[in-house]
Amino acid sequence: METKVDDVTLRYEVRGEGDPVLFLHGFPLSGAMWDPVVDRLADGWRCIVPDLRGMGGSGAGPVDGIADYADDAARVLDALGETRPVVVVGMSMGGYVAFAFCRAYPERVRALALVDTREEADTEETARGRRETAEKALKEGSAAIADDMVGKLFAAGAPEDLKARWRNVIASTPPEGVAAALRAMAERPDSTGTLRALDRPVLVVVGGEDAVTPVRDARRMADTAGQATLEVVPGAGHMAVVEAPEPVASSLRRFLGGLPAAAQGGR
Ligand code: MLT
Repeated sequence: METKVDDVTLRYEVRGEGDPVLFLHGFPLSGAMWDPVVDRLADGWRCIVPDLRGMGGSGAGPVDGIADYADDAARVLDALGETRPVVVVGMSMGGYVAFAFCRAYPERVRALALVDTREEADTEETARGRRETAEKALKEGSAAIADDMVGKLFAAGAPEDLKARWRNVIASTPPEGVAAALRAMAERPDSTGTLRALDRPVLVVVGGEDAVTPVRDARRMADTAGQATLEVVPGAGHMAVVEAPEPVASSLRRFLGGLPAAAQGGR
């Protein structure tokens, strides 16, 4: 399915019936990363899975900051007529977008699941590195950053065909989409206060071998959120969603099943 925001076409998938769950993917990937998880949840929930602008099947367009991706996700919900509060599930960059969504649309958030992500902003050094990588992608193409990225995203034992599949996704992401996302991530605000103030159930899931947003980040987020549940997926890296979809989906299923009854939306 598609909707237009200004001149940008946003593509999204919707599967299942039930209370709505919004899945936000990582960088520079696509909503397809959630397929093996959605396969396991669509029997009980309405799974809404956008491709963020400039990635997957969504067109590239101007990005002023991470909040623009959250606005796009809200426009997708609007296009679906989805006025009920949603459970927001964000993986890595999707988690950064999820925090922005919580800031912009708190009344639309029923609960938050943070998967292989972090609440802290970039250090200056990391932000500088991202800006350099953005330049490189624009000059040399996305394939030029794909090998380096894949090396960090997966656990050492991850299957080669899985790594090759996602390497291809990164390499075929338009350089404008890659650069815009890198710059937005570099400038994103610290979300510690957002997480601390969030008066909603929180789940934190992390691959036990995540080298990008390691287990210590997940523990810190769970502590900051207060009543959060923390689930560590042994043997999985930053891409736990595709490396180990069964335990990730099981964690989400337990979390979703244990949520207090949904308040009915209607903004
Ligand atoms: C992601 O998976 O979205 C990125 O690795 C996030 C990041 O670089 O901080």
